[in-house]
Amino acid sequence: MNKIDVLLGLQWGDEGKGKVVDVLTPRYDVVARFQGGPNAGHTLEFDGKKYVLRSIPSGIFQDGKTNIIGNGVVLDPILFRAEAEELAKSGIDLRKQLKLSKRINLILPTHRLLDAANERAKGDARIGTTGKGIGPTYTDKISRNGLRLGDINSNFAEKYEAAKARHVARLKAMGEEPDFAELEREWLDAIEYMRGYDIINTEYYVNGALAEGKSVLCEGDQATLLYVDFGAYPYVTSSNTKCAAACSGLGVAPNRVGDVYGIFKAYCTRVGNGPFPTELHDGTGRLIRDLGHEYGAVTGRERRCGWIDLVALRYSVMINGVTKLIMMKSDVLDGFDEIKACVGYRINGKETDEFPFEVDELDIEPIYVTLPGWKTDMTRMKSEEEWPAEFRNYVDFIEAELHTPIAIVSVGPDREQTIERKK
Ligand code: GDP
Ligand code: IMO
Ligand code: MG
Repeated sequence: MNKIDVLLGLQWGDEGKGKVVDVLTPRYDVVARFQGGPNAGHTLEFDGKKYVLRSIPSGIFQDGKTNIIGNGVVLDPILFRAEAEELAKSGIDLRKQLKLSKRINLILPTHRLLDAANERAKGDARIGTTGKGIGPTYTDKISRNGLRLGDINSNFAEKYEAAKARHVARLKAMGEEPDFAELEREWLDAIEYMRGYDIINTEYYVNGALAEGKSVLCEGDQATLLYVDFGAYPYVTSSNTKCAAACSGLGVAPNRVGDVYGIFKAYCTRVGNGPFPTELHDGTGRLIRDLGHEYGAVTGRERRCGWIDLVALRYSVMINGVTKLIMMKSDVLDGFDEIKACVGYRINGKETDEFPFEVDELDIEPIYVTLPGWKTDMTRMKSEEEWPAEFRNYVDFIEAELHTPIAIVSVGPDREQTIERKK
């Protein structure tokens, strides 16, 4: 029986998961998403074109592969349809290449309204969600009020009306006057559209594939520091984003996990509110944002930028059991004279290398080491033999700090700008 490999973001999202899943897909039979939803925006670039995927796995562009959306995911039929129709223009027929779990929880129009209303109610303490209804949908799932994709074949209208009535009552109690007739029409239309898809018990499909010796790559959404349990609560998303979520979000046993790829940027970004110890509020932060085009793939919001945070990364490596690291966007730092890396935190005069529970309330002073920049355009490099000594030094330094090998280095957004190391 084969094992699943899992690819996860180790920071606050947008590490480049989509790009790397697309690059790795040729060596797998199946690519599966297991948590999150259209709050994700995964960007792929090849042949001079750019694609942003929200719900659909990033294996979709490689011929002959099966893509799965697993039970741990929440799905908005309107956004799914828009994404599918966009892909159809590139000749991709999702009905042939994609399987969806019956257990996927559906994002209703009223979930989106609740997301917005919750944020309004929080005022200055708002989370800065993507506004896609993620929190309210997972809330309904866990409180056993969710509507699932498999429900479209049994008493769906009745179940939908009951959920809608609950949501409208809640919205009214919050002082909202919900008006979503147009959105609802579009949503009900999209539900009909979903009937054309292969909606199955994906847990049997995935375990069956493993039993036949097929290989499965699991694509994480969001990232470890947005994990509802281990992120800086409440500034997190509403799903489990760690490695174990691939097991619960696909129905695979923990002893079936093989490699765990942990992906990170050579610096750090975050979109939305919440703590970010190494955030730069100065010209360097703005320079990283400009050079890295750090604007949200889903919301277009400016991403907050800062130096790499090895305290946070060590934490992410630990809780995920990362076996191989993937470093992204190092090309953004190509012109810098010096690069800083945070190796510890100073809190109330005391040094620590642990990611604290109270990260949101503490005044954290990052402890930096300064490394020399490589001052070389790396975007056309194809192998590690071409690396300048300073770049090798940066890679060696991070490997030593994280006690984990860096297997892949990405030097640009295109599929081709990927260096796989021989070690
Ligand atoms: P994801 O959510 O983890 O898939 O990442 P996003 O797609 O939201 O954000 C990553 C952004 O960086 C996208 O615009 C990618 O095209 C881009 N990107 C990925 N890898 C690299 C890289 O190595 N260098 C540069 N300059 N851009 C990259
Ligand atoms: P990918 O998969 C970056 C952030 C939001 C907000 C918080 C909660 O592209 O890396 P939510 O809408 O999930 O309730 O918002 O989580 N967030 C992301 N940030 N990349 C993502 O996904 C994100 N998905 C959610 O900005 O701070
Ligand atoms: Mg993204």
